[in-house]
Amino acid sequence: MARELQPPQLLRGMKDILPSDQPYWWWIFDTARNLAECYGFDRIETPILEAASLFTRSVGDATDIVSKEMYTFTDKSGDNVSLRPEGTAGVTRAYIEHGMLNLPQPVKLWYFSPFFRHDRPQAGRYRQFWQFGFEVFGGQQAILEAQLILMARALYTSVGIETTLQINSIGDKTTRLQYAKALQAFLKSKKSELTDEQKITLQKNPLRLLDSKDPKIQELLVDAPQIIDSLDEVSQKHFQEVLGYLDELDVPFVLNPKLVRGLDYYNRTVFEFWAADDEGGQISLGGGGRYDTLVESLSGRPTPALGFAGGVERIILKLKEKQIPPRPIAAPEVFLAQLGDPARRKMLKLFEQLRSQGVRVAEAMTKDGIKQQLEVANKLGAHYTLIVGQKEMMDDTVLIRDMENGIQEEVPFNKVESELKKRLEKNRANGVTPVTGQVTLERLDKYKDDVPAEEEVPVPHDIDLDVE
Ligand code: HAM
Repeated sequence: MARELQPPQLLRGMKDILPSDQPYWWWIFDTARNLAECYGFDRIETPILEAASLFTRSVGDATDIVSKEMYTFTDKSGDNVSLRPEGTAGVTRAYIEHGMLNLPQPVKLWYFSPFFRHDRPQAGRYRQFWQFGFEVFGGQQAILEAQLILMARALYTSVGIETTLQINSIGDKTTRLQYAKALQAFLKSKKSELTDEQKITLQKNPLRLLDSKDPKIQELLVDAPQIIDSLDEVSQKHFQEVLGYLDELDVPFVLNPKLVRGLDYYNRTVFEFWAADDEGGQISLGGGGRYDTLVESLSGRPTPALGFAGGVERIILKLKEKQIPPRPIAAPEVFLAQLGDPARRKMLKLFEQLRSQGVRVAEAMTKDGIKQQLEVANKLGAHYTLIVGQKEMMDDTVLIRDMENGIQEEVPFNKVESELKKRLEKNRANGVTPVTGQVTLERLDKYKDDVPAEEEVPVPHDIDLDVE
């Protein structure tokens, strides 16, 4: 007997971004884009699929991200490829491959893209997630860190999320190697208290134990040596400069000696933004730092660089938790309603005319009754509805209905555009928003699982054209 097929389902750790969430997504995209443009970043998008070796050479093959979480497979050509787990490696590859080393430096690039990590899914941790990221190539001055931090911070504050900036310096490669040895020596006598996995980490990538979320490990590390005490002189001076800028700019920060970040390419300054109420940094909202040797280790000309990336889903989770509503989507300025097929054809044309002139226009051509169409117009928050019923069709006129007060005015059809424009221009000049965003958000609410599909929406004004 044939097995009954079940409807297909999302893979574990994956998420649909439904229409009801889109206002949040547009809000974060637009905020990131505005900041990027203001700070002189150009957008770049690199492929989702890259050679696996790109990530082993950059993020590092001993890191959890590469050794445990990366989706890697052999494609049909026999190439070993990976779904990118982060954005810095791909952007650096593109910087080298497209000769951006020869452009005036610094080269500043930003992206808003999906990434993949096969981690254990939980709140705020997905297997496909989105980041906005900013990368700066060709500058070693400490002021660049300060600006990058200001920019990232501006993103969180402009959507209303309070954060703490956690910052540390991990020095250069020699410092880290020496420090790793010191840490291994410190933990040698406590090895029996580590789990098998932690023992492997101690051997392969001991710095990662520092930002482990395991409280037992944190207890063992209370008196551990701190990397900041073994910084080389140049890194120390650089870090002081970064902190000096932050002080001058009144940017509060927490010096966090345990912050090392989970990617091998970093040197010197590393930082993260945690939600103000997330003391342990359980779900970091974003992180970044300097990676002065990455371009060279991917066979490019030595080029200092730094960057930052923030997690989009985590910001949205926080906004929802704090009940911060998303910025409303602009409602239509004009809605077209008609009765009967000839009127529908007329409105179809008018719709194209208005839309091509930049008017925000909407319709519900599949609905027949004027009443139902006005209900939709009202729900969308349209400021005016243009109505062509049977009488208007015969007289070659159109009714302009002000949805705010229900007042209707009849105008000749060939004058409708100029009459409408007069009203819209006046409204725009007076700053009258033809929206209450909530109205438009209601439309998107229908995609939420807990809202019944067919919602009754009251029509606020008397409808005198109730012909069905
Ligand atoms: P990262 O700390 O691995 O850094 O990721 C940056 C942010 O992406 C995190 O702070 C978090 O908000 C978000 N994120 C990471 N993993 C997940 C996940 N599984 N689910 C949801 N959100 C997640 C990097 O990726 C670096 N490339 C950042 C960077 C750019 N450094 C220099 N330039």
